[in-house]
Amino acid sequence: MNAIDLRGKTALLTGGCGGIGVAVNERMSASGATVVTWDLAEAADDRVDVASEEAVDAAMERLLARHGHLDILVNCAGITGPNQPIERYSLADWRRTLDVNLTSTFLCCRAAVPAMRQRNAGRIVNLASIAGKEGNAMMTAYSAAKGAVIALTKALAKELADTEVRVNCVAPAVIATDLIKQMSPETYATVIAKIPLGRPGRPDEVAALIAWLASDECSFSTGACFDLSGGRATY
Ligand SMILES: NC(=O)c1ccc[n+]([C@@H]2O[C@H](COP(=O)([O-])OP(=O)(O)OC[C@H]3O[C@@H](n4cnc5c(N)ncnc54)[C@H](O)[C@@H]3O)[C@@H](O)[C@H]2O)c1
Repeated sequence: MNAIDLRGKTALLTGGCGGIGVAVNERMSASGATVVTWDLAEAADDRVDVASEEAVDAAMERLLARHGHLDILVNCAGITGPNQPIERYSLADWRRTLDVNLTSTFLCCRAAVPAMRQRNAGRIVNLASIAGKEGNAMMTAYSAAKGAVIALTKALAKELADTEVRVNCVAPAVIATDLIKQMSPETYATVIAKIPLGRPGRPDEVAALIAWLASDECSFSTGACFDLSGGRATY
């Protein structure tokens, strides 16, 4: 079996210190990529608030000054926002949830595309969610943001279709990260009952798909939303 080959590639991974981000970092690094993580967490290569225009633009300048080029962008930073009925959802929470999940994706794509266009090469992978396809009750902002990440992916893919830059997203259902530990046993049971495979996904399973989408082998897919839901989403 041929392994995914990312040798010589420079990859920017936002949210690289989170449950899925760590697995993506491990997988892409093992495939030969030089991975640069942006995160609020201390362990990040560069501590960047990806919802901030100034912070993203300045961090991209630093990255390009240091590495010279950018081949891969994985937009993985995200927050679920509060679990609240809409009547109790504050505008501040709505805005922050959209900023961290959606505006961050726009800002990082906008900062990355010039470097990718210049070399006429690149791969962008955005983290959407099954919430963006199906809508999760009590998570209006998160669902709206992730639905918009899917639409942004499709639009940008078409915009870059005359280049060798490919833009795709993945839509996981529940993945076994710390997120699960915050769920009550009842919520966990409800969520798992919706998954035909009867279990949550593993971060390494997400990382495997992302690594392939980030590779040169992903050449004829762009603007697509790839399923990672154990059979829950069949469309
Ligand atoms: N875990 C799941 O079940 C699941 C399901 C569907 C989609 N997703 C998506 O996958 C992505 C990763 O999820 P995860 O489970 O690893 O979450 P996580 O909470 O473990 O990790 C998210 C990371 O993003 C970072 N982050 C948050 N806000 C940031 C900001 N403003 N600037 C920079 N970094 C910031 C956090 O510090 C954290 O390290 C998210 O976009 C999430 O919405 C996760």
